[in-house]
Amino acid sequence: MHKLLIKIFFCFLFAFYFLCANINAQVIVIKTNTTSLIFRVDENKQLQQAYFGNNFSDTALYNIVKTSNSPAFPGGGLNYTREPAIEAQHADGNISIQLNYVDYSTEKQNDNVTITNINLKDPAYPFYTTLHFKSFNKENIIETWTTVHHEEKNFITLLRYASSFISLNDDNFYLTHFYGDYQTEVEPEEFKLPEGLYSVQTKLGGARATYTSFPFFMVSPNKTLSENEGNVFAGTLAWSGNFNLQFENIRMNTHEGNSLKIISGINNYASAYQLKPNEIFNTPHFIFTYSSNGQGQASRNLHAWALNYAVWNGYQKRQTLLNNWEATYFNFTQDTLVKLFDGAKKLGVDLFLLDDGWFGNNHPRHSDTAGLGDWQPNRKTIPDGIEYLVKQAEAKGIHFGIWVEPEMVNPKSDLYTQHPEWLLKLKNRSEDLFRNQLILDLCNPKVQDFVFGILHDLLSKNPGIAYIKWDCNRYMTNTFSNYLGANQQAVYIDYVNGFYKVLERIRKEYPQLEMMLCSGGGGRAEYGALHYFNEFWPSDNTDAIDRIFIQWNYSYFFPAATMCNHVTSGGKESLKYKIDVAMQGKLGFDIKVNDLTAGEIKFCKTSVDTYKRLQSLINYGLLYRLISPYKNSTASLLYADSSKQKAILFAYNLHLHNGDSYQKIKMEGLDATKKYVVKEINVEDGEQPAFEESGKIFSGEYLMKEGLSWFLYGSLKSAVLEITAQ
Ligand code: DGJ
Repeated sequence: MHKLLIKIFFCFLFAFYFLCANINAQVIVIKTNTTSLIFRVDENKQLQQAYFGNNFSDTALYNIVKTSNSPAFPGGGLNYTREPAIEAQHADGNISIQLNYVDYSTEKQNDNVTITNINLKDPAYPFYTTLHFKSFNKENIIETWTTVHHEEKNFITLLRYASSFISLNDDNFYLTHFYGDYQTEVEPEEFKLPEGLYSVQTKLGGARATYTSFPFFMVSPNKTLSENEGNVFAGTLAWSGNFNLQFENIRMNTHEGNSLKIISGINNYASAYQLKPNEIFNTPHFIFTYSSNGQGQASRNLHAWALNYAVWNGYQKRQTLLNNWEATYFNFTQDTLVKLFDGAKKLGVDLFLLDDGWFGNNHPRHSDTAGLGDWQPNRKTIPDGIEYLVKQAEAKGIHFGIWVEPEMVNPKSDLYTQHPEWLLKLKNRSEDLFRNQLILDLCNPKVQDFVFGILHDLLSKNPGIAYIKWDCNRYMTNTFSNYLGANQQAVYIDYVNGFYKVLERIRKEYPQLEMMLCSGGGGRAEYGALHYFNEFWPSDNTDAIDRIFIQWNYSYFFPAATMCNHVTSGGKESLKYKIDVAMQGKLGFDIKVNDLTAGEIKFCKTSVDTYKRLQSLINYGLLYRLISPYKNSTASLLYADSSKQKAILFAYNLHLHNGDSYQKIKMEGLDATKKYVVKEINVEDGEQPAFEESGKIFSGEYLMKEGLSWFLYGSLKSAVLEITAQ
């Protein structure tokens, strides 16, 4: 009996100890099909990131792993001496933030999506932060963001407000980031991160996010990036304004070991944000994936997530189109436009897109010097109004789309004189025009109504409008918001939120409307705005050779369905070459159809028909980048359907040089056990296929392991192969 009592006592003691130990060591696991992010609460109630990497097959490891042992979301002003995730000045002037773990919750939205919310609180202040993690199992994506609120007596000032703070543990890290300018968008650069802090950021305000730098990157531990092998962390911030991606490479840390802190968020440059009691500050979402099969898999993860969850109506069928920008610029009339509709019809595209120059009466938009802000059709150019154009297009069996740049105003406009209080400009300094225009103050709800009204007016009066190209041709400089008054530090953030509010309203009214996001080329290539748009304009550079590189680089993060590629007169490449390049994404034309020969028009029409037949495969297929244009003077990529029944392959010779080596085209995404017919398509009338074995049957294993010998001869040659399982 005595022994039994002792046994029971020890059992209770053990159970009690085990319970306490578990409370102390609260473990929170955020998981996708391949990746785990594990947090642990330490004895001081501090949330620590315990692990980030591939899943464990032994689930017991989730409770004990402690590889990274990094603060999960360090606050500034206390004992964390590196770059903090969050900094704020409390209502009493104190600038320290301590975040203790409170609790966490999970919300399973469906079999694929789970949201985990981790609540933290400052023990000395009613200051609350929640870390949110939305995991997408099959896409292997984690979306993370932060919310902050407080119940202090007065407003507090947020000085720094990261969307995410992730720690990677390894010895060396290679960063690939993207930079550029107008017409030279998205140039990649890869280098080994030195010890210390490196930042990729923009300070362009709220009207353009991507121009000089892009809010996406890849990090590869211990080796440079490769397409199909090695670990890759790929991330992107969904925000249409100033962003900051920081990489703090910490070496020789005796406590943590070598690690890289990846901190993403809105750039806090000139943006100390005043937060009222009980007001909620939401950071933008940071989206990331981790692949152990190189950057190819990382891209496919991001593409699947984008189509399933991120871009507006990801699987909505995009319309092929003829745009008139490069064909006419501002020089058109109602009659010439209607004639151009015939061109669209001849090409066989779905839609005619009227670009810039159709509006303004007192200040006609005959050039980029006037008219922005006055969104009435010009009575001389288009006497019968947009309604007439829509009807004429419909009569010819095509749809009609229209260009707008509703956030902008030219000083030569009625709007400029009617509403000087709506302009973002410093009163006591000279006006800083860019492309002769200023930006409207979207922080102001009245301006939001005005901008919404432009679209609503156009679309409600002309329900036939089937497409909008939303442009934005400047970034913010010399900015002052009358609406914000003394609170100018809010302007960059409130502008973007105002922009999203307008888009939210537009989408509520017009959910099926196809919309292209454009910003003087690729100034808004990011997922914040793409949440409301079906597609984006990657660059005003439409030279086919340059486009091979531009599209290649965007393809790391964006699926083909979202990339609008237009065949234009620019560049010396053949029409076939241009079409073969533009077909890689969403195909369009911006060309003078009347200048084309009958044979060229026929070729375009056949290509458009082919594109439409294969559009789903190209737009939503799994992308395999096979031969990089950066390595030799050739490039090749392939889209395969997930059932491995069909694939389409694009191959290009760039400008060839002596000494170029020609790689075999080793395909991917096929079934080794299946047999495939490989047929060259898009062959011009009277020409022989460049692929001499066109029509032959090959095994999937042969195509993937042995591959096709490079078959294009001479500079600027291209081919498209359709690969169909038997
Ligand atoms: C810049 C865009 O990138 C072009 O495609 C065109 O729409 C012009 N703006 C019109 O002003």
